[in-house]
Amino acid sequence: MDVVMVASESTPFFKTGGLADVIGSLPNEIANAVDINVSVILPKHSAMPLAWQEQLEFIGSFQVNVQWRQQYCGIFKLALSGVTYIFIDNEYYFKRDSLYGQFDDAERYVFFTHAVLSTLHNLQLKPAVLHCHDWQTGLLPVYIKASYDLNSIKTIFTIHNLRYQGNFPLSIFHELIHLDEAYFNSLIMDEQINFLKAALVHADWVTTVSPTYANEVKSTYFGEGLNEILLTRESAMTGILNGINNNEFNPATDPALPFNYLNQPDQKRLNKQTLQHQLNLTTDVSIPMFTIITRLVPEKGIPLILHILDELLESENIQLLVLGTGEHELEEAFCFFKQKYPNKFHIERTFNEDLARLYYAASDFFLMPSQFEPCGLSQLIALRYESVPIVRETGGLNDTINSYNEFTGEGNGFSFTNYNAHDLLYTIRRAIYFYWNKEHWQKILQNVYQSDFSWKESAKEYVNLYRTLASKQGALVT
Ligand code: GLC
Repeated sequence: MDVVMVASESTPFFKTGGLADVIGSLPNEIANAVDINVSVILPKHSAMPLAWQEQLEFIGSFQVNVQWRQQYCGIFKLALSGVTYIFIDNEYYFKRDSLYGQFDDAERYVFFTHAVLSTLHNLQLKPAVLHCHDWQTGLLPVYIKASYDLNSIKTIFTIHNLRYQGNFPLSIFHELIHLDEAYFNSLIMDEQINFLKAALVHADWVTTVSPTYANEVKSTYFGEGLNEILLTRESAMTGILNGINNNEFNPATDPALPFNYLNQPDQKRLNKQTLQHQLNLTTDVSIPMFTIITRLVPEKGIPLILHILDELLESENIQLLVLGTGEHELEEAFCFFKQKYPNKFHIERTFNEDLARLYYAASDFFLMPSQFEPCGLSQLIALRYESVPIVRETGGLNDTINSYNEFTGEGNGFSFTNYNAHDLLYTIRRAIYFYWNKEHWQKILQNVYQSDFSWKESAKEYVNLYRTLASKQGALVT
């Protein structure tokens, strides 16, 4: 069986968020596990490091119609760990200083959509399933359905984050999209063309990246205006949890760490000592160290942390390190605390993968009190680096972190239900209490160590879904 995935970013080529991690690891897991040929189609963004660009093989080129113009479309190929990556080349659209947020995003991703369809034609690819990810690929299920020779292909659309929908002025329907008028209404949301909505209406199957998020998005609070549409697709929608690549995230071999370890708390602690020295914090490895590694945006629960930070740092003997960039006001607020508590608190306003790994390795606790979280990968990386997650029970956080129960000895972290700063503070204090209790702490660390969120189970779920859809004849949605 042939499966083609389409997305706008993937590690190790270019990344702005968790989508890239998923596209960089899931296809390979599927290809390795079973006899499915997986190809991944991506734009050839200029952010791709030269070392990768040099390995690409040029396959050919053709013209793609966009508006009244014909645009060049080059095709490059790269075979990497069992997966065929196909890159769509057009420097006018993809030689930019950012992947998204450009003035002509609608045109750029309509071009990409047409280029994907032409690639299927020209390379004579007729996959059983076309698996599309996020709004940049949202129009594909519509075009597939509208196409005479491709409409036997089944489409799956995966929502990685419902907040980003790709909405554009209505005028692009006639200027760029060129579909039959009959499709017009199905693409509209709040007087705009909405790429994500198009996919939700037309894809044969919709998935989100965790079972809890799949439920949450059907409510007004989480639905970002699309909850009613999602409700109509309830019978063709599932949540499949993301995984991480355990070889890529392995504290036993990670070259970014000064001290490698696996289930060896004393060894792990040497990383804490290193950071305490480097950052001029109080050097005492017994002090519980917390970390926050994230984009600094409100949805990650940063306002909750800021609300209780004074109270927390004033009253508890802890250290807290923040790594990330984001909204200026949030960064500034953390800087204030760095000045006020120089031995206890630190913010590094940057994002650096190696530094992130050191922070995971050095810390005892990982804070992630998100307002919503489709899946979340950081808590999985934290588990892998044996940093105990403290999370809010939402989306994938709810599906991966089980709050410690001192009576049964179960649980791989700590969690709280309501988006409330003092519930967070209470939960942090509860975690600190168990940190100092040797017996409980050992149990918690064992539970963390035994948590397994590799791709294995989830990859199987995708494969089952591909097989089920591929076996169905005819159109599944009208
Ligand atoms: C988005 C979501 C995140 C998820 C990731 C990969 O970035 O916000 O929760 O883990 O996509 O699916």
